[in-house]
Amino acid sequence: MEKKCFLTRRARKQNFGSNMQQTLSYPSTKIYIEQDLLQKNSLKDLLQLRKRKGVVIADESVKELYGDPLAKLLEVDLFTVPRGEEAKSHETKYLIEQKLFEKGYGRDTLIIALGGGATTDVVGFIASTYLRGVPLVFIPTTLLSMVDASIGGKTAINTSFGKNLLGTFYHPESILIDTQVLASLPEKELRNGLAESLKMGLISDAFLWNLLEKNHQNGKVFLSDPSLIARSIEGKMNIVERDPKELGLRRILNFGHTIAHGLEALSFYEISHGEAVAIGCVTEAFLSKELGYLGEKDFERIFSVYATLPLSLPKNYTREALLKALTHDKKRSLEKLRFVLIDKVGHALPFEGAYCRAVSNEELESTLNLMEITYG
Ligand SMILES: NC(=O)c1ccc[n+]([C@@H]2O[C@H](COP(=O)([O-])OP(=O)(O)OC[C@H]3O[C@@H](n4cnc5c(N)ncnc54)[C@H](O)[C@@H]3O)[C@@H](O)[C@H]2O)c1
Ligand SMILES: [Zn+2]
Repeated sequence: MEKKCFLTRRARKQNFGSNMQQTLSYPSTKIYIEQDLLQKNSLKDLLQLRKRKGVVIADESVKELYGDPLAKLLEVDLFTVPRGEEAKSHETKYLIEQKLFEKGYGRDTLIIALGGGATTDVVGFIASTYLRGVPLVFIPTTLLSMVDASIGGKTAINTSFGKNLLGTFYHPESILIDTQVLASLPEKELRNGLAESLKMGLISDAFLWNLLEKNHQNGKVFLSDPSLIARSIEGKMNIVERDPKELGLRRILNFGHTIAHGLEALSFYEISHGEAVAIGCVTEAFLSKELGYLGEKDFERIFSVYATLPLSLPKNYTREALLKALTHDKKRSLEKLRFVLIDKVGHALPFEGAYCRAVSNEELESTLNLMEITYG
């Protein structure tokens, strides 16, 4: 049965935690979630391509699978970027810009990014700077890019000094999600998206967590239930709208990510982001328990969901390497590491607007012991 969802970002009066209240206004981003959306003849009208030029930019694998038929349907050019992280480079940005200039694309050109988070990150960055910004549409094709990378307006490329160090905040005018494309996504990639949705449940949406706890099947549940994608997106949108420039609340999206970034860095990015985030969420939930915020029962629930996933520490893991990698984490202040913590399923602690707390190496000891015993 075909299922449709439609979401719109809009201005809202917000109220979070004890004393935080803001009114934010955003340009609207329409989000369409629909099976087989990419095959609809009406797509050309939806994207207003009878009134303006368009160009699809896809990664090399996605081009073969979905890019060529889409460009044909829309009667537009298609450019490719390398698959995966390799796309997020100065070189890719430069080469695509050259092609756009050579073909004479002007200010009213709609740039359509088709692919996973790596593609939407680099193409979003290009669209935000080409002729000082041209209209942009995202068509995310991985679960992670649907529920996470497409949402929130962050664009990025990597540099030799680190990941995501160059970029802009720039919102697409719409995001088109065709759940059918998930059918070709390897299970490992599905789990990457599942890890971010589970995290969203843990920090702000107990209802989403409960649904995933009952039905997650390694992420396959998303193939049959687009409302889970919508729910995950709404969770991220709510947080981003309240803190668009990552000054406070948005930090809770980093739950599980302090440990995850450490594991990724020490493994030279051999471990997938989703696996690292899943290990990070269990570990940081345990830390929340050890510091007296999270109850034993909630932790056990969390632990047993992640126990169904195939998770293990990187082969070259040592505690020393992890601590070294952690000290390069962005949220570090002077000596102590900072962690986002939860006090129940569905709620991250506000810590008076800081949304993270300093943790000493001694306080971390028992938590790292558990992580090593469980996933070592
Ligand atoms: N901007 C943000 O807020 C934000 C948030 C989270 C992550 N990210 C970024 O997202 C990136 C990771 O994104 P990702 O996990 O989507 O990975 P990805 O874009 O590297 O895609 C993973 C792989 O899946 C393939 N693929 C994509 N769609 C497919 C499909 N439907 N069927 C078969 N194969 C398909 C791709 O070719 C690629 O090889 C990272 O660079 C990360 O920094 C950005
Ligand atoms: Zn993440």
